[in-house]
Amino acid sequence: MPFYHKLGNIPAKRHTQFRKPDGSLYYEQLFGTIGFDGMYTNSYHEQRPTQVKEIKKQYSVAPKIAKTNNIQSYRLKGFEVKPEIDFLESRKTVLINSDCAIILAAPKQSTKDYFYKNTDADELIFIHKGTGKLRTMLGNLDFKYGDYLLVPRGIIYKIDFDTEDNRLFIVESRRPIYTPKRYRNWFGQLLEHSPFCERDIRRPHELETNNESGDFLIKVKKQDDIIEMVYASHPFDVVGYDGFNYPYAFSIHDFEPITGRIHQPPPVHQTFETDAFVVCSFVPRLYDYHPLSIPAPYNHSNIDSDEVLYYVDGDFMSRNDVAAGHISLHPAGIPHGPHPGATERSIGKTKTDELAVMVDTFKPLKVTEEAMKISDDSYHKSWLE
Ligand SMILES: [Fe+2]
Repeated sequence: MPFYHKLGNIPAKRHTQFRKPDGSLYYEQLFGTIGFDGMYTNSYHEQRPTQVKEIKKQYSVAPKIAKTNNIQSYRLKGFEVKPEIDFLESRKTVLINSDCAIILAAPKQSTKDYFYKNTDADELIFIHKGTGKLRTMLGNLDFKYGDYLLVPRGIIYKIDFDTEDNRLFIVESRRPIYTPKRYRNWFGQLLEHSPFCERDIRRPHELETNNESGDFLIKVKKQDDIIEMVYASHPFDVVGYDGFNYPYAFSIHDFEPITGRIHQPPPVHQTFETDAFVVCSFVPRLYDYHPLSIPAPYNHSNIDSDEVLYYVDGDFMSRNDVAAGHISLHPAGIPHGPHPGATERSIGKTKTDELAVMVDTFKPLKVTEEAMKISDDSYHKSWLE
């Protein structure tokens, strides 16, 4: 996150002696991104963060691809993904390209006997159902319905759920995920016309410092493999850190919609950007107020991007027969638009209570076998009268 955060105790100057009460040194770790050019954090550990004890199993979790070069629109019934006990096993990749993976998950239990680290993808976890606590080496974040949790690559974490009823929509991104550049000034501060500002961004607020030795299992995701690594010290042993690279939370309910006299294009809903896809939040808002306005969107040809819409809550005015938890995929190359009757139905309406997350990818998405299990094979014909 491009603003400064400090938690716990740190020395007055970086790369200088920082001593424990017994006189020995804390272990400093520079945690950088984009080589030494990107956002970074300096953290101070009770023990060396490098103590690999054993490398155990390594196995592939690559999704099985059902369809490449896809031109068919799909509807996926997300809530038909079966709940599973384990957080990692519950994650089902439904759409994927070389930049990102779109994942649905219904984990029933917290991560108990392992830690998790994704080495080469930022993870954006949208909480559709569930409450709990994201616990990381750089502090904890409480979460609830509507939260986006942004975990930068390399951050070791666990996730605690309060109940077994959890539904997550996750985007794994091999490109760094940022807030849109056009909403930030020269100094990185969010501008006046940004639909959210720094006050809406929740930073880690409690730091767990466990100075423990033993066997600590970290399941490390590298490309499409999970590697089980055992470390000799507890991964959450940081006494303090500062910098710009840390996990954070942002609630979709804190997104302030931008509206107009006539239909505003999707970029007004943009919440996150990468150089490979964007993420938009569609939130309850007033409709267009030109006397002859048509609130429903026009047909459009998304010739350069695959459009993925994840329906969260409310009434989805441009579609017939979509429900919470559904995903629509409108692939690049063919136009799509409102369903029959939706345009007429929208005229005269003054507001919408729809809540949805959109991911537009610049490279085509492959459809996985997991997606086929929950797909509605007739959706692509749903614009016929
Ligand atoms: Fe669209």
